[in-house]
Amino acid sequence: MPGRGSGLERWRRRRPVNGVGAVKTRVLVPWQSVCDALGDLGGLADARLTVEVFTGDAPGPADLGDVVFFTVPYDRPFSTEPIPRLSGVRVVQTLTAGYEHLVALVPGGVTLCTARGLHDSSTAEHALCLILAAQRELPRWVRAQDGGRWEHAHTRSLADCRVLIVGYGSIGSALDARLRACEAETVRVARRPRPDQDVFGVAELDGLLPSTDIVVLITPLSAETRGLLDARRLALLPDGALVVNVGRGPVLDTSAILAETASGRLRAALDVTDPEPLPSGHPLWHSPGTIITPHVAGGAATFYPRAADFIVQQVRRFAAGEPLRNVVAEPMSGE
Ligand SMILES: NC(=O)c1ccc[n+]([C@@H]2O[C@H](COP(=O)([O-])OP(=O)(O)OC[C@H]3O[C@@H](n4cnc5c(N)ncnc54)[C@H](OP(=O)(O)O)[C@@H]3O)[C@@H](O)[C@H]2O)c1
Repeated sequence: MPGRGSGLERWRRRRPVNGVGAVKTRVLVPWQSVCDALGDLGGLADARLTVEVFTGDAPGPADLGDVVFFTVPYDRPFSTEPIPRLSGVRVVQTLTAGYEHLVALVPGGVTLCTARGLHDSSTAEHALCLILAAQRELPRWVRAQDGGRWEHAHTRSLADCRVLIVGYGSIGSALDARLRACEAETVRVARRPRPDQDVFGVAELDGLLPSTDIVVLITPLSAETRGLLDARRLALLPDGALVVNVGRGPVLDTSAILAETASGRLRAALDVTDPEPLPSGHPLWHSPGTIITPHVAGGAATFYPRAADFIVQQVRRFAAGEPLRNVVAEPMSGE
């Protein structure tokens, strides 16, 4: 049985149905494999907590009042549709590392948990892929191959470059390890300085940009980071520098990077853009020296089994009354 303080017990005490303590409650998970792995919740079947699949491919079922734990399906068209109808929900678990899109949707008093850590390998790998593709001019060779042309030329490299990681968090540190393995020099920036980890605070960003070969944006989107890399800061980068964005599109000023790439002074490799999706015909698609991928960094194959395992463990923690992982918003005191 779950302990007295478990999320499930608290919910049942708060929401008696017809005065009866034992209320059937539901957990929604996005994949059948998670449902199967949870089984009878390791002997907690008596808790009357049932696990069901909501894939996010279609709107949720009509009656969601007994859902206490809701997992937001990853990158599906109806992922967030049920949230306003979850009248009894205690925990909303997103499968994205960023959660700015959920803040207005999830009511106060509900615990919001993210997928921090689950996207580290996939996103860092994609950032490295973009950097290498840009430095070694992969698009040029693919276009030449399409035309059957042997266009021999030498390119830039990644080794010996100075790479500025703006947003040295979970993904930033995974990228740092990969860049160092490629013999690049990394310079780390976070919101606040961490001298023990050689991390600069963002207040020092302007002084770091002029000696940077490659700048990678991997911050969350917030009021502070919106437009962080604007025209003034881009102008501080040396000629030929590469701007990579795998965080959120609006952290980079679109008009400013367009002007810099159109003139050929800077290059760009962007997994995220502003707007998103980037409309057909948008000038960024064909701006010189620009590589664009359609926000696919985090969702590579390695993410899914890790995410499934994480949800299984998170639901078990919830049912057993243990502390949840990756909590970014908790109920107000007294909840
Ligand atoms: N392209 C994709 O598919 C994809 C996939 C996953 C995630 N993402 C994006 O990546 C972001 C980061 O994920 P994460 O898991 O690494 O998050 P995280 O561990 O929370 O790290 C975020 C880092 O950003 C730093 N930061 C925040 N505001 C900043 C500012 N104004 N200037 C400089 N640095 C700032 C934080 O600094 P402090 O440590 O000092 O607070 C922290 O180190 C997510 O929020 C999401 O937007 C994109």
